[in-house]
Amino acid sequence: MNIYTFKHEADFNATGAGLIASLLHTKPRSVLGMATGSSPIGIYQRLIEMNRQGLVSFAKASTYNLDEYVGLPEGHPESYRSFMNEKLFNHIDIKMENTHVPDGNAADLEEECRKYDAMLEENGPVDLQILGLGHNGHIGFNEPGESLIGGTHVVELQEKTRTANARFFPSLADVPTQAITMGVGSILKAKQILLLVRGEDKAEIVKRALKGPITSQCPASLLQCHPNVVVLLDQGAGGLLS
Ligand code: GLP
Repeated sequence: MNIYTFKHEADFNATGAGLIASLLHTKPRSVLGMATGSSPIGIYQRLIEMNRQGLVSFAKASTYNLDEYVGLPEGHPESYRSFMNEKLFNHIDIKMENTHVPDGNAADLEEECRKYDAMLEENGPVDLQILGLGHNGHIGFNEPGESLIGGTHVVELQEKTRTANARFFPSLADVPTQAITMGVGSILKAKQILLLVRGEDKAEIVKRALKGPITSQCPASLLQCHPNVVVLLDQGAGGLLS
């Protein structure tokens, strides 16, 4: 695991974007695993600039997002599909049909999970999986518990997660109670993982995830088992690592 801590946001973003761009240079048909949340936004902005300047192309790439809320109306500003379109896809040369986000409005959610796994199986493995980190150690929406699920599945969101994400909704009551998420098994199949964490409020969970015991009570701790993980932290998030 290679852990880098950055003093300046611009360096954090340039490093993350540079890693993704160099992968696309080597392999234009890369399969990218995408994440939402605030941590990757600056990297997505940097990639948009690089794409405009002709420094990177997504024309042959495909993407698979980690997760999506269940039951938000189509086009809802806080759906992860809307987030990805607004923050990245609408501004780069990717073909929209090559971008995939689980459908949180599918009539049969279990069937949607099976379809998503089948697509990942057929088009994967993911070359680079971007991840954020929840305050409770979740990755995607894999919440801590007695056990973890390998494949894509429907999850009940924990109160801590709903509260953390309430900042994007009019009130806590508006935050969906369920989501579809890729499982920890699918995440660990990626050839390389790029974990992005920002903020002092994440310092404790960063330490537990990267240096603590490997346990389903902290899903991100399973990343310690993966052979190729790059972690980018700002000073706040990295504050408790020696
Ligand atoms: C949400 C997403 C996660 C994301 C996490 C952290 O819960 N489902 O995939 O990693 O938020 O977000 P942030 O980057 O804002 O800390």
